[in-house]
Amino acid sequence: MWKHHGKIERNVVLLSVLTLLTVAIGGLVEIIPLFTIETTIERVKGVRPYSPLELAGRAIYVREGCYLCHSQQIRPFRDEVERYGHYSLAAESMYDHPFQWGSKRTGPDLARVGGKYSNEWHVAHLVNPRAVVPESIMPGYPFMRRALDFHDIADHLKANRAVGVPYTDDMIKNAKADLEAQVSPDADTKAFLARYPKARVAKFDGEKGPVSELDALVAYLQILGAMVDFSTATPENLKQ
Ligand code: HEC
Repeated sequence: MWKHHGKIERNVVLLSVLTLLTVAIGGLVEIIPLFTIETTIERVKGVRPYSPLELAGRAIYVREGCYLCHSQQIRPFRDEVERYGHYSLAAESMYDHPFQWGSKRTGPDLARVGGKYSNEWHVAHLVNPRAVVPESIMPGYPFMRRALDFHDIADHLKANRAVGVPYTDDMIKNAKADLEAQVSPDADTKAFLARYPKARVAKFDGEKGPVSELDALVAYLQILGAMVDFSTATPENLKQ
């Protein structure tokens, strides 16, 4: 055995080939299980793909780098659960591409901020955080009153579908209409709500004008952590 090893160590080509083979096997053992990830994330009742407006809001969240100050991952520790609510489940970010777990909390965790405040509070806070939290160091985003550019929203849904989010043809075909439906509480939103259960319908920014970036961002913030009903949850009845 040792005699053979000597042979390998003296032959640089043989050593390289065998090293490569060893590393390749090690790599495959680590990588192949990831392809079965579908079965390692448990499906959870209530988790659905983002509505087009929420998805547009999420794009703004990423664009503005909110993740640099906010995490979206409640860890299963008592202090976190008491402050933020039920710890985050893997399934709750399964349709996030890329995920927004973040790694720094200059501000609080946002994984369950949905429903915590009114839309008006969010708008006032985003425009000027000091208006509602005097000691806040968060920057204001008053320019988000501008109109949202959503001419390519269907393509956003398609891109997400390409990486595994189960948007149906129906959802993609209606993307633009659904985005507008979510800010039209007076219109018929039945079909929209059938596609995106529990979506909040409101003119989030409280203004009459066109769909704004604030509308999209607040719609997104209001659904964070609000898809799963934890009020009666047990590990068994959460499973889909
Ligand atoms: C420079 C760091 C920083 C950035 C960037 C930042 N925030 Fe904040 N955020 C904070 C801090 C600090 C607080 C706590 C004080 C407050 O409520 O304003 C906060 C609070 C919040 C809250 C209230 C959370 C709660 O549970 O009370 C929300 C919602 C929020 N931020 C959303 C956002 C969004 C959306 C963005 C991106 C557009 C963003 N933040 C960008 C620092 C930041």
